[in-house]
Amino acid sequence: MNDRVTLVEMGPRDGLQNEPHLLPLPLRVELVERLWHSGLTRIEVAAFVSAKRVPQMADSAALLAALPRHAGLRLGALVPNEQGLKAALAAGVQEIGLFTACSEGFTLANIGVGVEESLARFAPLASEARRHGIRVRGYLSTVIACPYDGITRPKRVAQLAARLLDLGCNEISLGDTIGVGTPGSVAPMLDAVLGEVPAGQVAVHFHDTYGQALANLLPALERGIRLIDSSVAGLGGCPYAPGASGNLASEEVVYLLQGLGLDCGVSLPSLAATGEWVSRALGRPNGSRTGRALCAK
Ligand code: HMG
Ligand code: MG
Repeated sequence: MNDRVTLVEMGPRDGLQNEPHLLPLPLRVELVERLWHSGLTRIEVAAFVSAKRVPQMADSAALLAALPRHAGLRLGALVPNEQGLKAALAAGVQEIGLFTACSEGFTLANIGVGVEESLARFAPLASEARRHGIRVRGYLSTVIACPYDGITRPKRVAQLAARLLDLGCNEISLGDTIGVGTPGSVAPMLDAVLGEVPAGQVAVHFHDTYGQALANLLPALERGIRLIDSSVAGLGGCPYAPGASGNLASEEVVYLLQGLGLDCGVSLPSLAATGEWVSRALGRPNGSRTGRALCAK
């Protein structure tokens, strides 16, 4: 079993996109820097989406202009269309995330087109990004259920994951967008996907609405998945997924991995301090239990 796990840190993007208070740009820069200094090597920092739809991400280009680049750090951003890709390339991102979902209802609410149209739109974007030497993630949301359309069938997730891979994505991030999955529903979904996509190209992206996100990591780790999306202090949520709560907290992931003897190269004390710092900056309670426990010591 490969013992090296990579965390893909979502805090600056998924973490902040749903916050009622905007984090000022210098603090967003500080957040990313702190996360890098904790040992995180992949950080999604921005989204080149409509500022009317997601005002929290409006200054994505300014953020990328202000961020220092570090050897070994990959900065990523969400891209929904050609306009977003142009802006992301101009801003010097090192990875883009194309994002669609398994269900029509969420895809329409989120990006204004249906699933098929989104895939048709992504194909040239993926080629163009790769021509520029930029890596491409494909996000697949609502892999367990959709807030508008209900339960998602595992076979549907597998088929769409395979299509995202075929159109040029380097890896597929499987999103339980509304955090309703349990190991009982996540395991068959993963088995279906892993019939189509190698484990090395699969990431899991669990929201923690029902407190199941950490438990859901176990079937993923057991199946050889080594890419985990998580967010410092458990920040996160999608404005188009009503009722969904934050992401699985990065601190919880690091603590679990340490307990399992799996290495992820992240300093837990440093990460926990960042979680506490950003929670205070946002005026919200720290959403990580591990972070709260460590900071209370
Ligand atoms: P649209 O409004 O449906 O249609 O936008 P449009 O393409 O006709 O554009 C309308 C206006 O948006 C125009 O401006 C465009 O210029 C502008 P106006 O003429 O009205 O002033 N526009 C853009 N502006 C900036 N950047 C762009 C861009 N494209 C158009 N790239 C669009 C389509 C996709 C942009 C819109 O629906 C949108 O921004 N949606 C927000 C999507 C989003 O960020 N959702 C949250 C992230 S996804 C997520 O959280 C799930 C994930 O975490 C995984 C999981 O948890 O499952 C990834
Ligand atoms: Mg998400």
